[in-house]
This record gives sequence, C-alpha cells and structure tokens, in this order.
Amino acid sequence: VSQIFVAIDGPAGSGKSSISKAAAERLGYNYLDTGAAYRALAWWVLERGMPTADSDTIVDALPDWDYNIGVDPDNYYVAVGETDVTNAIREPRVTSVVSSVARVPKIREHVNALFRDIMRSAPQHGIIVEGRDITTVVAPDAPVRILLTASEEVRMARRSAELANEKATEVADQLRKRDAADSRVVDFMTAADGVVTVDSTTLTFDQTVDAVLDVIEQQT
Ligand code: C5P
Repeated sequence: VSQIFVAIDGPAGSGKSSISKAAAERLGYNYLDTGAAYRALAWWVLERGMPTADSDTIVDALPDWDYNIGVDPDNYYVAVGETDVTNAIREPRVTSVVSSVARVPKIREHVNALFRDIMRSAPQHGIIVEGRDITTVVAPDAPVRILLTASEEVRMARRSAELANEKATEVADQLRKRDAADSRVVDFMTAADGVVTVDSTTLTFDQTVDAVLDVIEQQT
C-alpha cells in the first residue's frame, strides 16, 4: 500500500504542529513532529550533562539515544528510553539549546534516517510530517508539500499568548533568534519549487486547518 505523504514546513510559531496534528486527525493519517525529535535529542544531551556545543561528543553518543515518538495524532507522545518527555521538551532550557544541536550535519543525517524508518512503518495510509526541511531535504518528492507561514508579528503574538507566564518581548526575542539560527541551516522562509504556501496571518485556527486540507485534497 503506498502512503500519501504530506510534508509541511514553516518557522517557529507558525502553528505547524497544532495545524498538522488537527489535519492528520481529520484525515485519519499519522502525524510526525520532527521538531520534537530534535527537542528530545537536546533534552537528552542536557540530561547526560554533555556540552551542547560539543558536537563530536554528541555524535559519538548518538547510538545510545533511544528515542520514541507516537505517530497517532490522538495519542501523541515523545519518549527517551523509559522517560516520557512530551512536556519536558517544551521547556525553555531545551528550546534555547535545540538549534545548536540541530545544526550539526551528522546529527541531521542520523535523525533523518530515523524519520524515514518511522514513516515507512507508520500504520495509516497517509502521514503528515512537519518540520523545517521536510519539503526540501527529507521528502522533496512528497506528493503534497506545504509551507505554512504567518507574519512575524502574528507568530510572536500567538506564541506569547501560549506562554502567558513569560514576558512577551522575551519570547519574541527568543523566537526571532531561533528562526535566524535555524535559517542558516535550512531555508524554511521561502517556498521551494512546487511547494504551496499557506499564509495563516489573517486566518483562524480552523480556517488554517481547512486551507491545509484543501491543498491536500487538490494534490492527491
Ligand atoms: O518545530 P520546533 O520549534 O519544535 O523545532 C525545534 C527545533 O528543531 C527548531 O528550532 C530547529 O532547530 C530544529 N528542527 C530542525 N529541522 C526540522 C525540525 C526542527 O532543525 N525538520
């Protein structure tokens, strides 16, 4: 059975994860959050007390990194070994180091190989995979490729509303820095050839999910 593969990229705060998950639920597809894998790796690097800038040490230790992710959108979880890290990987201490771990080419290769395994063994007939380089590097041949964007202002506002206990300016600053660092590694701000842009700046959450579902319907 050939799978319907949907690749979605976009910057931080674009709503990629929640939109992709909702779209996968509506379609009965699997869902893979690749950012969560990089976060789970960064969490493990911190847990092990490895210096996040020491890429050689991290690369050498990669075979010990036992990473597990749920691809059922209704039962989403991220685990490292026996530890459920679904919530811990969203903590600011992880967010602030994830880019420096994710920029190492050997780490990206290792993680991409895991993604391909996960995709191959996903049980549903379709899967939505979201991240930064899915439309360009991980799955450039995917039948549906979408760049999910929103104006910087709106992305910042949505993210600071999510994290009510943090100062909005601090969050905006962090987000901008992370996008700048990540952009040096992969381009997720402009749509590659054949990638459909969905701009959610003036759309509600439900309207954005519908827009994504429309693109999937048109392209499959
Ligand atoms: O999407 P999310 O914000 O959870 O991603 C966390 C981090 O993982 C990003 O800031 C980026 O450094 C890295 N990432 C990546 N490539 C992907 C997905 C995420 O480098 N495909």
